[in-house]
Amino acid sequence: MKYVPEHPRKVRGGAVHQAIAEKKLTILTRQREQEDVREVQLATVREDIEAKFLSPVPKNFIETDEVKRYIGKILLWLKTGYPVHIIGPTGCGKTALALQAANLLGKPSVWVNGDEAINTTNLIGGYSKIEMTTIRDKFIHNVFKDKDTMEARWVSNPLTLACQYGYTLIYNEFSRSRPEANNILLSVLEEGVLELPTKFGEDRYIKVHPDFSLLLTSNNMEYAGVHKPQDALLDRIATIHMDYYNRDTEVKIVQAHSGLPKARAEKIVDVVRELRNILGGVEKPGTRIAIMIGQALQATNGFGKDYLEEVCVDAMSSKFLGFDDVAKKRLLIKERIQKML
Ligand SMILES: Nc1ncnc2c1ncn2[C@@H]1O[C@H](COP(=O)(O)OP(=O)(O)OP(=O)(O)O)[C@@H](O)[C@H]1O
Ligand SMILES: [Mg+2]
Repeated sequence: MKYVPEHPRKVRGGAVHQAIAEKKLTILTRQREQEDVREVQLATVREDIEAKFLSPVPKNFIETDEVKRYIGKILLWLKTGYPVHIIGPTGCGKTALALQAANLLGKPSVWVNGDEAINTTNLIGGYSKIEMTTIRDKFIHNVFKDKDTMEARWVSNPLTLACQYGYTLIYNEFSRSRPEANNILLSVLEEGVLELPTKFGEDRYIKVHPDFSLLLTSNNMEYAGVHKPQDALLDRIATIHMDYYNRDTEVKIVQAHSGLPKARAEKIVDVVRELRNILGGVEKPGTRIAIMIGQALQATNGFGKDYLEEVCVDAMSSKFLGFDDVAKKRLLIKERIQKML
């Protein structure tokens, strides 16, 4: 009998049944495709969240020797692994300094602004989205199969993002938040673990990334609405007390933000520094006020004594107590300007 190596029957189309090895391969490929899709989805979610919290880059940042000294100290502590708390009066440049230092660290930085209403969820995140999937199976025409799946989606806030991915967290106006909202930071700094109280099982704990850095800014204790952070936290943080910058730095900052020539920026800074000596507490005008005055004068091209007086009063009077107080301080401002120009 003649040996025929192949079955002589012709097969049309593909095989209906798969061999076990083929089946495994199909399942594996499908799983990999699903994982790829999930990864892309996660990356998109992460990008979305980062875009919301990514800190701004300070504009027209000036680096004089004085500024460099502060930045050097901040970077030293951060690189040694300690958080840094910058404390100083209103408008002296704390936030700009923190943003610049975070930039120089060369990794993404996210930020959060403290206030009375902030709580742990604002820092860590929570289940804020619920996704619902419905499958309607009509494979056999007279059999209907419905399956609804609800999945709560976790959304991370800045502290979780920073701990997870090793970012810098800038916690601006830190002492404006109530101390209990910041208890969560204790285990982050001490044990290197972030606990997410609303999660379960192994998802509940995040090991803090070794690159995680924390930068805090606060007003001095004498300001209204400032809480004293708990001692246990302060013990683990390096603190840099800053004052208003020196004249040279302030002049350069006013020039950079207003575009005024040096001589005019000097006059504004001198007036502001003089008034800083006279006015007390929260009324002391910071560098921000000097910038405001500079920008207003540059925009109107005016620099007469009257104009300077008007602009100074408007820029500073938000903290004066009312019409009579403004009238009293207007005289003071006028007198100083007359003397100086
Ligand atoms: N080194 C600098 N170079 C350029 N601009 C600066 C610099 N430092 C501070 N500024 C500017 O001075 C102004 C006040 O600075 P900043 O907002 O950082 O002060 P702050 O101390 O954080 O104030 P607040 O207490 O109100 O939060 C801002 O407009 C900022 O851009
Ligand atoms: Mg600030």
